[in-house]
Amino acid sequence: MQEIIEKINKLKKERRAIILAHCYQNVEIDNVADYVGDSLGLSRIAAKTDAQIIVFAGVYFMAETAKILSPDKKVLLPNLNSGCQMANMIDMKRMKEFKAQHPGVPVVCYVNSTAEVKAEADVCCTSSNAIDIVRSLNAKKVLFAPDCYLGSWVAKKLPDVEIISYHGFCPTHLRLMPDEVKKMRILYPDAATLVHPECHQEVVKYADFVGSTTQIMQYCERSKKKTFLIGTEKGVVDRLSRDFPEKEFILISDRLVCHNMKYNTLEDILHVLETGENEVFVEEHLRKLALGAIERMVECRV
Ligand code: 13P
Ligand code: SF4
Repeated sequence: MQEIIEKINKLKKERRAIILAHCYQNVEIDNVADYVGDSLGLSRIAAKTDAQIIVFAGVYFMAETAKILSPDKKVLLPNLNSGCQMANMIDMKRMKEFKAQHPGVPVVCYVNSTAEVKAEADVCCTSSNAIDIVRSLNAKKVLFAPDCYLGSWVAKKLPDVEIISYHGFCPTHLRLMPDEVKKMRILYPDAATLVHPECHQEVVKYADFVGSTTQIMQYCERSKKKTFLIGTEKGVVDRLSRDFPEKEFILISDRLVCHNMKYNTLEDILHVLETGENEVFVEEHLRKLALGAIERMVECRV
């Protein structure tokens, strides 16, 4: 493994490339990543980097978001199988139909969506800022796509806003069942339970903390607790266990693995750096429209 890491790091310098990695990626990718984080953090870095090439170790919509923000950069996705099942649950046609059912209502689009869907939105959000973004609209009614579970979480936090959600969901997070959380909390009564807002509402009810992947990691770092029950993708537990060996991190269910996120390997990263293959493109007309929605999100600091 050391040999391939050295090759990647050398090529990265030669090609003026930056490697961005989501914290659901295979943990060994951190050895070559310049930044590891959640969707919002990665978008912010992609928007301001002066690298010539962005290798995005994540899923397709994340690389596409980087291309929308930095159109002059070459954006490479190490493995083109890395799609997001939730993002594929809605396309432009269905987004237009959803909007047509509620004319005049502002539209918030979770970044876990394709460029053509973002192009139809007023503003994007991620799991770490969804509540702030909806609040910033000062609207009585908001359309929210595609994740109905993140939509429910926001609705619970902002009871004065009527959230009308599309019916998308994350199959990975929905594998976590409320009973599993309940049982684990009985087994580990002193542990803190942390879950992602893409989980079932019943699961969210049991949590001591609900947040994005980076927010979950920061909570664990700051907490005085010794044991943490984690209800998000396995990559988060892998990183927490590596970074805080004095604490115990338990993945609540071993089914919490996003296989799409795991396609990217170090070999794939080396390959795209060597060949420039797997470049991600976004049609200019769509890019400009989607950029408006993403920029309104990136600029929103409530
Ligand atoms: P974050 O917003 O926490 O990065 O989550 C992205 C994601 O794909 C969750 O399933
Ligand atoms: Fe998409 Fe769910 Fe995987 Fe996140 S965990 S990338 S929402 S399928």
